[in-house]
Amino acid sequence: MQDLNELIEKMSGIRQSILSETSDLSDSKMVYEMKKTFLDKNGRIGQMMRFMREIDPSQRADFGQKVNELKNWAQNYFSSMDEKMKEKELELRYESEKIDVTMPAVTHEVGCLHPVTQMRNQLIDIFSGMGFEIYEGSEVENDYYNFTALNTPQDHPARDMQDTFYLSPEFLLRTQTSSGQIHVMENRKPPIKILSPGKVFRSDDDATHSPMFSQMEGLVVDRSITLGDLQGMLDVFVKKIYGDDVRTRLRPSFFPFTEPSVEVDVSCFECGGKGCNLCKHTGWIEVLGAGIVNRKVLENCGIDPDEYSGLAFGIGLERIAMLKYGINNIKQLFESDLRVLSQINDH
Ligand code: PHE
Repeated sequence: MQDLNELIEKMSGIRQSILSETSDLSDSKMVYEMKKTFLDKNGRIGQMMRFMREIDPSQRADFGQKVNELKNWAQNYFSSMDEKMKEKELELRYESEKIDVTMPAVTHEVGCLHPVTQMRNQLIDIFSGMGFEIYEGSEVENDYYNFTALNTPQDHPARDMQDTFYLSPEFLLRTQTSSGQIHVMENRKPPIKILSPGKVFRSDDDATHSPMFSQMEGLVVDRSITLGDLQGMLDVFVKKIYGDDVRTRLRPSFFPFTEPSVEVDVSCFECGGKGCNLCKHTGWIEVLGAGIVNRKVLENCGIDPDEYSGLAFGIGLERIAMLKYGINNIKQLFESDLRVLSQINDH
């Protein structure tokens, strides 16, 4: 038989232990673990119930009530401790996650495409809207494609206009994207309508010339192609780039692979044609070379010049970009100075 008084003493011992053992608990998890050791079925209070059978029946009700009191007290004690811990933990979390909304935001620099790439993309957009297909030729060519097939034989004076980088007696770095015309015409039957963007190379170096620059070649071959078609297409193109008020004019020129050949001028978009420094007081700015494909070139590619005719144009992308963005030295496009480049972003 268990003595009730002894058990009651045991219980007050348990109460003391709870008070002393919980005094240095520091978080809600520890409180939870500690609570289990008292209040679980096998915990120290849980085990008290086992004594029920071992005490005098007349004292059982009293004992049961005492155990329940202890249990309720312990439960209240632990839950108020748990509440306090959780409150403290929440405060710590708020403290650690605090954000200062007045702090300046971290800014990220946003990059943009190089002006020449922007120009290239714009031109591709404009001309593909007119039905042109893109053809990318190769930068290394042989003499035949860069000159001879373009009606520029070995001793032709026009070769002097384009100082050439030779890689070997046979191979060279193309001086013009016109070399792509020959590849296309050799391999396709008209109708042909291609746009060929790419890098070209000439031994030439000053404020407006760089040994490497970019061109965009256009070629259309079909029945009854005329200079009127050429001017119509170029009109659309310059208006899209420089604005609706800009007009074009064709001026006679010479290229061995076109006959007739023209330089295309646009009315000065800076002064509207009155005369200023940009247009050197002429009211006009030269933007590209073009012409009707020379019969000999068509023949060289196996196309009958009596049945078909063609137009071709070559646009210097750096030149178009310099004019549009007001850059007066071509080197600024290649020096990668972000202070200059980042001012130019059309998109
Ligand atoms: N290839 C010429 C140049 O580089 C430009 C051009 C292309 C002229 C097509 C007429 C027709 O100067």
